[in-house]
Amino acid sequence: MKKKLLRTFVICQFVLFAGLILYPSVAVAQYGPAKKPDIYFVATPHEVVEIMLRLADVKKGDVIYDLGCGDGRIVIAAAKKAGARAYGYDIDPDMVKKSQENVSRERVGHLVEIHEQDIFELDLRGATVITLYLLPKLNVRLIPQLDKLKPGVRIVSHEFDMEGVMPDAEAVVNRLDGKTSKIYLWTTPLKKIDKNAKNR
Ligand SMILES: C[S@@+](CC[C@H](N)C(=O)[O-])C[C@H]1O[C@@H](n2cnc3c(N)ncnc32)[C@H](O)[C@@H]1O
Repeated sequence: MKKKLLRTFVICQFVLFAGLILYPSVAVAQYGPAKKPDIYFVATPHEVVEIMLRLADVKKGDVIYDLGCGDGRIVIAAAKKAGARAYGYDIDPDMVKKSQENVSRERVGHLVEIHEQDIFELDLRGATVITLYLLPKLNVRLIPQLDKLKPGVRIVSHEFDMEGVMPDAEAVVNRLDGKTSKIYLWTTPLKKIDKNAKNR
């Protein structure tokens, strides 16, 4: 009886120990992105995408980076409408998969690549056009990376500005759903607003 009790105790300890070891790896495997997205997926309407690409004067020979590419619609449109090479980056593996499926379905795999990548750890120097639909504070967080770009790179943002940087152009788009979207365009080198100017 004593032996049986001891055996049961040892088995229980083993199961508990194995559970403790296995639990963290199971938890990591079950929950999506390694790092939480800084903003969740909301799509730019197709008619707004079209105006963004037009405002940034996207043409064949350009290299587009969409930072937080969601379902890939911007990079796909850049390839289909302008024949431009385009790269989409997203931190969420589900969105990366979705984008890659859409790229295949739209047959633009020869022009478009999608990568799982944190945009704040990305070297942007290969881009001639950068597209954004993030948040105002995230646009501002990108400034150190944008300051490293060669002159003449166009940056176009759906809806949100970049505090402290003067845009070259702004547009308002009337959407098919009856709402409006704002679009901002900047060209490198970024024109910083002198905060002290009005106090002089
Ligand atoms: C508002 S959606 C925009 C999607 C697409 N660019 C569009 O305009 O339709 C923002 C996307 O950014 C991605 N995202 C958020 N934080 C990120 C980060 N740090 N690095 C890469 N992607 C990120 C989200 O997963 C989401 O798909």
